[in-house]
Amino acid sequence: MNATVIGSQFGDEGKGRMTDIFGEGADVVVRFQGGNNAGHTITVGGEEYALRLVPSGVVRGKTGVVGNGCVVGLDTLFTEIDALRERGLDPDVLVSDRAHVVLPYHRVLDDVEEAARDEETTAVGTTGNGIGPAYADKAGRHGIRVGELLDAEALRTRLEHVVSRKRAYVEAAYDVETGDEFDVEGLFEEFRAYGRRLDREGLVVDASSFLAEREDAAVLFEGAQGTHLDRDHGGYPFVTSSNPTAGGAVVGSGVPPQAVADGEIIGVVKAYLSRVGAGPMPTEFEGEVAAEIRERAGEFGTVTGRPRRIGWLDLPMLRHAARVNGFTAITLSHLDVLAGLDELVVCDAYELDGERVETVPSSPDEWTRCEPRFERFETWDDRDWIAVAEGGYGALPENARAYAEYVADELDVPIYALGVGPGREATIVRENPLVQGRERELEA
Ligand code: GDP
Ligand code: IMO
Ligand code: MG
Repeated sequence: MNATVIGSQFGDEGKGRMTDIFGEGADVVVRFQGGNNAGHTITVGGEEYALRLVPSGVVRGKTGVVGNGCVVGLDTLFTEIDALRERGLDPDVLVSDRAHVVLPYHRVLDDVEEAARDEETTAVGTTGNGIGPAYADKAGRHGIRVGELLDAEALRTRLEHVVSRKRAYVEAAYDVETGDEFDVEGLFEEFRAYGRRLDREGLVVDASSFLAEREDAAVLFEGAQGTHLDRDHGGYPFVTSSNPTAGGAVVGSGVPPQAVADGEIIGVVKAYLSRVGAGPMPTEFEGEVAAEIRERAGEFGTVTGRPRRIGWLDLPMLRHAARVNGFTAITLSHLDVLAGLDELVVCDAYELDGERVETVPSSPDEWTRCEPRFERFETWDDRDWIAVAEGGYGALPENARAYAEYVADELDVPIYALGVGPGREATIVRENPLVQGRERELEA
């Protein structure tokens, strides 16, 4: 039995902390897309871990695989591994030889491309980590893969072919002076050093074979970003450059579709919306309540520190996510953050040009013109949420349960876990498929 954790909104739904919960019963946790644009927070007993590339399962001592679908910033990867070691953990991390490498010139390209976009209309508000340009190079066959870092000759050949063309392009198209980021010799030295370290520590594997050889292992696939940032199924062009949806777990790890489809596909839902970066968000609101939510939940980008935009829960977005991913269950987090608000609403449908619309249109202009139709909900008071978590689902305030059940009914899926605070201990777990599901499988 495997399970897949998917962001169902605009990222930062709490995938890291739910991966930590469902990772209890996993042997291997696989990141299958994205790079260090992600920031996944796990809080255990007051200790906070903010991971960008290392799979969240390593905090529980599980093997973490960075799959072929990822783009790897090696400086971040090693900084993270070293920081975890300094904190007394022994992170067991492996990287696919087929994953692509983010090079310094990808960051330059990310910056100049973003600066050239119009702030009001076309800016994406990327994290500036070179993610888009690295995926563009992968698709354009200019990319360099992790496996090539282990082979000096292959690396040099690739760099010599690619770097001069990148430099010429950036200088001509953006009229900027280029520096060390485009220096073949410097890049060769830097990335050969990464290659030597990867080799010395035995971090590089053929991840597909590694997973296939462990056919009895329970694998948890950890999505980054979210469905509405997916380059195919999200609000293009205000998206990231990978596929955070469930199909991405197949392609991005080298497992057969059954490895994902025969298991659970769990949509991680935040009880309201947050978005960092540009693009449509029909239920966005500003003012005191938004500021309160932002402060209470620390809604500032883990990677960039930017304040996150805030909106009400949007069911058309969730219906779209449930459909493209095939959610078999969801989790609902941040219920504590909504406590004590004067008003609480959920968008159950949009109105577009006088028509009721229940899912997300493909055109960003149309999505922007969608007017949310709101359902009103009774609120609940703030309380000792750790005690609530200890008491289980029945200890949740009745109105919070009504809110959760409304969402579950609309999507026609069960809720496996609810978050009433950032910590592992502030989680109500109703079903942990890799733990209880496995026990049932063994009994049967
Ligand atoms: P991810 O990118 O989906 O892993 O989410 P992030 O870690 O970037 O953002 C989620 C933030 O909300 C983190 O600061 C978490 O510690 C925090 N968080 C997660 N679940 C809950 C919850 O149920 N309640 C509260 N108050 N905070 C939560
Ligand atoms: P996690 O995994 C929230 C957003 C950026 C920007 C767009 C494109 O922590 O949920 P990119 O740098 O990927 O080219 O930026 O995507 N974005 C995220 N927003 N959470 C993330 O990851 C994100 N990763 C990228 O803000 O709007
Ligand atoms: Mg995040």
